[in-house]
Amino acid sequence: MNAPPLLIIVLAAGKGTRMKSALPKVLHKIAGRSMLGHVLALAHSANAQQLVTVVGTDMPAVEAEAKKLAPASRTFIQHQQQGTADAVLAAREAIKAHKGDVIVLYADTPLIRAETLMKLRAKLNEGAGVAVLGFLAANPSGYGRLLTEEKKGLGSAFNFVKHLTSDFASYGRPTLRSSSARSSDTLLAIREEKDASAAERRVDLCNSGVMAFRIANLADLLGHITNNNAKGEFYLTDVIELARKAGHSAAVVECEEDEVLGVNARDQLAEAEAIWQRRRRTDLMQEGVTMIAPDTVWLSYDTVIGRDVVIEPNVFFGPGVKVDEGAEIKANCHFEGAVIGKGARIGPFARLRPGAALSENVHVGNFVEVKNVTMAAGSKANHLAYLGDGSVGAEANIGAGTIFCNYDGFNKSRTEIGAGTFVGSNSSLVAPVKIGDGAYIGSGSVITKDVAAGSLALERSPQEERPGWAEKFRTLMGRRKGKS
Ligand code: UD1
Ligand code: CA
Repeated sequence: MNAPPLLIIVLAAGKGTRMKSALPKVLHKIAGRSMLGHVLALAHSANAQQLVTVVGTDMPAVEAEAKKLAPASRTFIQHQQQGTADAVLAAREAIKAHKGDVIVLYADTPLIRAETLMKLRAKLNEGAGVAVLGFLAANPSGYGRLLTEEKKGLGSAFNFVKHLTSDFASYGRPTLRSSSARSSDTLLAIREEKDASAAERRVDLCNSGVMAFRIANLADLLGHITNNNAKGEFYLTDVIELARKAGHSAAVVECEEDEVLGVNARDQLAEAEAIWQRRRRTDLMQEGVTMIAPDTVWLSYDTVIGRDVVIEPNVFFGPGVKVDEGAEIKANCHFEGAVIGKGARIGPFARLRPGAALSENVHVGNFVEVKNVTMAAGSKANHLAYLGDGSVGAEANIGAGTIFCNYDGFNKSRTEIGAGTFVGSNSSLVAPVKIGDGAYIGSGSVITKDVAAGSLALERSPQEERPGWAEKFRTLMGRRKGKS
């Protein structure tokens, strides 16, 4: 099918006062990415030819995020927050210049799936002038209600369907419903809660806010919306009745409530996070990842995990982590910006920081921190170590308590360790320093100079021993304490 070009308008001008935050609402993160970022990614996956973000005044950070994540997008400023229709019209110029479909998304509704957006757009192909994404709300209060036409031929069979007659004489027979089976997907109007009658408030099919349009003079149509309502705002939802009057049909597409959760306050932010995490964990398990206690594994928006990876409880994946097939992640690890190779064994209690690049079969054990270090195949750092800024050759063994002394308070320097090297426990490697292939570093050494391949380097004071000293010491001290 040859779909017309698509313009997506993302509304992000809301102040988000209920977040009680210095940060604009849409910059709060879910799975390590801003809500705006999630919505821009959705827009990207919908193949929009043009992307527009509507921001409020004094929101340079929101504008910058949009520019960073979608460089080809444009931003428009809504100078006063006069409602959702007014917000869309902030992009009037883009709408007027565009010939094709328009989709409106809210930046504070970050969980919508790309498939759902495709279903919405399919309604336009079936002939609708406007399609609205709706959902059955467990608790509809606060949402706009979708007033739909009764399903043809079902009315008499469903005696629990109540008709609204007085308010809707002009529309025919709208349905009040609590199940999607009872009405058609023809939309008659959207009623905001504050403007709804008691009967309308009982409708639990609600407006998600997402709308798709195939209306040639959309900007003109939106221009006819007034603010003659309970909130004194220009409601985008009024477009339904106007579009119908102009001869367009309006349809509803339903989705799960989870997908259209709108974030207004921090508890909803946490709820959205939980939904996102559950969804992503399920996807990964379906792709062949084992999680022993999935609820305790936290993922980022870009976490990549290969097949047959086994993840024990309490593991945190910050942004930028990739785990290759068959790796074993033991309990209580923290990762960020790290690559974990095939068959690697990490943790328990390991910390991989940005730039940790671990090849196949690397072992990193408990209380080991790795930052900006590449570890070649089969190398090991099994206990209590800090490896920062450097490289570890294949099959090298880093002993317990080894420290790469990488920072002198001003500059960072590198430690390079050759293949097959053995670094004895409790060694300090003072960077910049290079240890050649196959060398040995004696335990407890402070290595400040390069070591040639195959050498033993050690830096220790000679050990002293005084035979019989302990017995004499105990006798002397015992006498002093009066124990003799
Ligand atoms: C809106 C819908 C309601 C729907 C609900 C879903 C209208 C009139 N009502 O209500 O039917 O059930 O969303 O969550 O559309 N915004 C601006 N500028 C404005 C006003 C809003 O950019 O002047 C943006 C907000 O940043 C937000 C979105 O539009 O992203 C929705 O605004 P909000 O005020 O939260 O609308 P609701 O009252 O929740
Ligand atoms: Ca809202």
